[in-house]
Amino acid sequence: MKYQNFYSRSIDHPDEFWLEQARQLNWYTQPKIGVSKDEYDYDQWFEDGELNLSYLCIDTHIANGYGNQNAIIYDSPVTTTKEHITFNQLHAEVSKLAGGLQDLGLQKGDTCIIYMPMIPQALYAMLACARIGVIHSVVFGGFAPHELAIRIDDCKPKAIITASNGIEIDRIIPYKPFVDEAIQKSKNKPEHVIVFDRKLGVEIPKKNYDIDYTTLVEKSSSIEAVSLSASHPSYILYTSGTTGTPKGIIRDTGGYATALKFSMKYIYGVEEGDTFWAASDVGWVVGHSFIAYGPLLNRNTTVLFEGKPIRTPDASTFWRVISEHQVKVMFTAPTAIRAIKKEDPNGDMLKQFDLSCLKYQFLAGERCDVATLTWTEEKLNVPVIDHWWQTESGWPMIANMVGVQLNLVKPGSSGFPVCGYDIRILNEEGQEVADDVEGYVTVKLPLPPGTLRNLWGNPKRFVAGYLERFPGYYFSGDGGYKDEDGYVFITGRVDDVINVAGHRLSTAEMEEIVASHKAVAECAVFGIHCNLKGQKPLGLIVLKSGDTFKEQEIASEIISQVRKEIGAVASFRDVLIVERLPKTRSGKILRKLLRNIADEHQYNVPSTIDDIAIIEEIKKVYQINKVGIHIS
Ligand code: COA
Ligand code: AMP
Repeated sequence: MKYQNFYSRSIDHPDEFWLEQARQLNWYTQPKIGVSKDEYDYDQWFEDGELNLSYLCIDTHIANGYGNQNAIIYDSPVTTTKEHITFNQLHAEVSKLAGGLQDLGLQKGDTCIIYMPMIPQALYAMLACARIGVIHSVVFGGFAPHELAIRIDDCKPKAIITASNGIEIDRIIPYKPFVDEAIQKSKNKPEHVIVFDRKLGVEIPKKNYDIDYTTLVEKSSSIEAVSLSASHPSYILYTSGTTGTPKGIIRDTGGYATALKFSMKYIYGVEEGDTFWAASDVGWVVGHSFIAYGPLLNRNTTVLFEGKPIRTPDASTFWRVISEHQVKVMFTAPTAIRAIKKEDPNGDMLKQFDLSCLKYQFLAGERCDVATLTWTEEKLNVPVIDHWWQTESGWPMIANMVGVQLNLVKPGSSGFPVCGYDIRILNEEGQEVADDVEGYVTVKLPLPPGTLRNLWGNPKRFVAGYLERFPGYYFSGDGGYKDEDGYVFITGRVDDVINVAGHRLSTAEMEEIVASHKAVAECAVFGIHCNLKGQKPLGLIVLKSGDTFKEQEIASEIISQVRKEIGAVASFRDVLIVERLPKTRSGKILRKLLRNIADEHQYNVPSTIDDIAIIEEIKKVYQINKVGIHIS
């Protein structure tokens, strides 16, 4: 077995394996050291190597004679714009913006937040930061000013790069006022806000800290990439954890570049020059790894799509983009396919397009249900590959490595461990479980290159959250099992993190907001099944006595508060008022039990429950209300 040999080599001889992969890149100083310990006694890769991501994504390809190849195809059905950007053009934009950032005083090691819609300038901003060693932190546009403020206070950016606006299906998203509001709320004020005016007639409120993006680029000179050590943080990406405070995942430079170059060839099966499309957003890890850095490192043309799978203008958009831009490999979330399938169940729209260019369809971001997988296989008639990973890993951990060997797809499974990931399923005591027995999904250390280095400003939380639960292993936070053939099945999170339409959210954070409403005595927010989005949050609320007559009003206030604080992306629209919540005798709310009852799954009643009668009560309320008070 080609895969088995390749995989075994990566686990048995990690240094040799990854140093060989590192040689596929044009480093300033080739590393000779594989894995070693950092100042926190945690594993790091290639500590003696020197490189620059922006240089590898742009300059190398120009030097090799590919300056006129398309680096980015920007396809925006929401503005009816299509733009082809060559590596030469990308170089001009990025190197001048980097010069502009430098003129503003940004230096290696400074941080910069990028809060932008899916426009080429978002990629230019990332690559310009990387060019001068400025650590970027891209914040997803669907997050509200409050969330942006939390991130500003955590990473203390010297500058924020933003745009006049984003565009959702039915409305304009005013980014600049959101940034102003976030700065007002935050304790650490950035020195500059660089604003790209999309010239769509959206008014940009003016502040003293504003710098016009276009003017900055026009007046600055193009600069060369700086040499950075492999362990230099390339970015911080915030993700939801089990508390209300997001975690700033730190990514290195050298390990990341090596892992992404490896992924493009061996996981996604694309060759240099091919067109690759990840239909995600630059605000998520998929956007970082497989819209921006991965394809560009591998000299692929990356598609930057500003739209939705449906209603921009209809459910044929994805197929049009694949066919028009000759996409060889595409990546999206199962939710997007479910949305298309709902609008076009027979796939009639797909038949209008010649999709012969497409070789593989990849899915990730949430569990892929079998119906979605089989529909996609039937309609596209190409291998449909579910694969599993996280913001923390930065690149796939379980997949069907089609660039090595296309293995049989088992519906429901994300495939086999990817090279470098020694996946182990452990029980509560940290022992490996037998085949088909569900447990905690962990990775035996060391992790391969490219995964998280630490948490920004919080090394203790890093150890507590990922390394302490099972010493010697990285704990993913997911549950799952392996079958007798070695296929891994991910069954879902074992903590308070939920996945709504492929977006990772913290129910603990929602719960904090719900609990702060003056009428709420106590509450529990947890994820329940949703046919379209996979999961959606449901809030169970016990009111302070005397307020029951205002249920609708209270629910509506709570729902808008969550939207205001976290953002529309939370999709928090369902509230259920109950008399009391099931708890253990020590007072812990039994969220898993509540979730299982709501989803009509089998459940065991824990012996520690304080009052068993409450289960019947809750069941009755669910049945009467089904989804409770829904505010759309
Ligand atoms: N900026 C501002 N608002 C945003 C946003 C952004 N970048 N992205 C989403 N939102 C808003 C949406 O407009 C929506 O607002 P609404 O409640 O007023 O309608 C809300 O956040 C929830 O968004 P979403 O969960 O995406 O639902 P939707 O109804 O807009 O679209 C799908 C449903 C299935 C079409 C959409 O979720 C989708 O394309 N999913 C694929 C997800 C994906 O690629 N994830 C990346 C992981 S790989
Ligand atoms: P994120 O960090 O936003 O990428 O979310 C990571 C989480 O999404 C994982 O911990 C899983 O819970 C879930 N996830 C991602 N991909 C898959 C998949 N293919 N199958 C099941 N769950 C997935």
